[in-house]
Amino acid sequence: MNPLLGKLHPYPFERLRALTAGITPNPALKAISLGIGEPRHATPALVEEAIVAGLKGLSVYPPTAGEPRLREAFTGWLQRRYGLALDPVTQVLPVGGSREALFAIAQTIVDPTRPGATVVCPNPFYQIYEGAALLAGASVVYANSDPARNFAVRWDSIDDATWARTQLLYVCSPGNPTGAVMPLSEWEALFALSDKHGFVIASDECYSEIYFRDEPPLGGLEAAAKLGRTDFRNLIAFTSLSKRSNVPGLRSGFVAGDAAILKQFLLYRTYHGSALGPVVQAASVAAWNDEAHVVANRALYRTKFAQVTPVLAAVLDVALPDAGFYLWAGVPSSDGKPGDDIRFALELLAQYNVAVLPGSLLARTAQGHNPGTGRIRMALVAGTDECLEAAHRIAAFTRTFQPA
Ligand SMILES: Cc1ncc(COP(=O)(O)O)c(C=O)c1O
Repeated sequence: MNPLLGKLHPYPFERLRALTAGITPNPALKAISLGIGEPRHATPALVEEAIVAGLKGLSVYPPTAGEPRLREAFTGWLQRRYGLALDPVTQVLPVGGSREALFAIAQTIVDPTRPGATVVCPNPFYQIYEGAALLAGASVVYANSDPARNFAVRWDSIDDATWARTQLLYVCSPGNPTGAVMPLSEWEALFALSDKHGFVIASDECYSEIYFRDEPPLGGLEAAAKLGRTDFRNLIAFTSLSKRSNVPGLRSGFVAGDAAILKQFLLYRTYHGSALGPVVQAASVAAWNDEAHVVANRALYRTKFAQVTPVLAAVLDVALPDAGFYLWAGVPSSDGKPGDDIRFALELLAQYNVAVLPGSLLARTAQGHNPGTGRIRMALVAGTDECLEAAHRIAAFTRTFQPA
């Protein structure tokens, strides 16, 4: 058996299930889950229709690199969304959702025979980054997010010797769970570090189309182009239809950026056998070529967040994020230190039958503390009425919650 499998940490939901095993949620109230970040808005009809229309063609193996019209749909979208002109032949590749691609990129990039192979990731973070790094034979170093600076990651907490060993850096903007968007200055600093130390930046942008400010979130490739880095050297952006088009079950996304890296990534993927089936490719072409459903989807999130956030902000330390579909809230504490997110989540479930994710399960202890401690993540993926009902229950609960 591969001994690296033993290094994997249990997934946050597994840990939550174990923590809640002995709890009976209040049976008088209907269960509401704000736990899992799985889109629940309706899949657009145009995607479903494209699936039906695409059923012909199952008798051939699909190309791993995708059909030309799919790759052109990616570059067309990059042009409209970011004003970027990428080459559909060399600078984009289809992937089965960002999750598998974020995993696969570490297997492509990391050379475990180099001493001290290191992958850096934000903290809290999407757990796939860590598992991908560990299974690639690297060690993981975590950079904490800073609540005092809109949860910006403290990249400056990583010392030069660690950066020198780093082969891959994961960034997540808009961030899960914080919703923070990285500004150009942060990108500039990371590009300078990448140039100095030679590591690759994997930019997870799967929440890029759900945002609450006027300006759409800055993308990694867009930042690179603004800084004159039009070859996107050592940069790969990961984009997905799951959240943008409410199709997490389709398993479709794409990566874009440095052509030399994508060539190696395609080689890896060919052996791994990760081509998208023709039906998925057809549905993806339809989804990437249409923006109207994305605008409508964003409007639904905006209405929902505008109604739910003030209810929670009256009792918790929380504000409208830049983007994404999470609220990342501080729970009450009595001594100015972070509150007890696990006790808060368990008592909330027992008394009000609302599930939220304790923040400490989404982060590791680094630089002396766990930056998720004292926070809960609430995924506002259900309809507005259900999310509002949950918010009122959480507000009622918080008013009676006794911090230790
Ligand atoms: C930060 C982040 N990245 C990537 C993913 C994976 O999404 P998908 O594989 O559906 O594109 C998720 C899913 O929840 C996520 O939260």
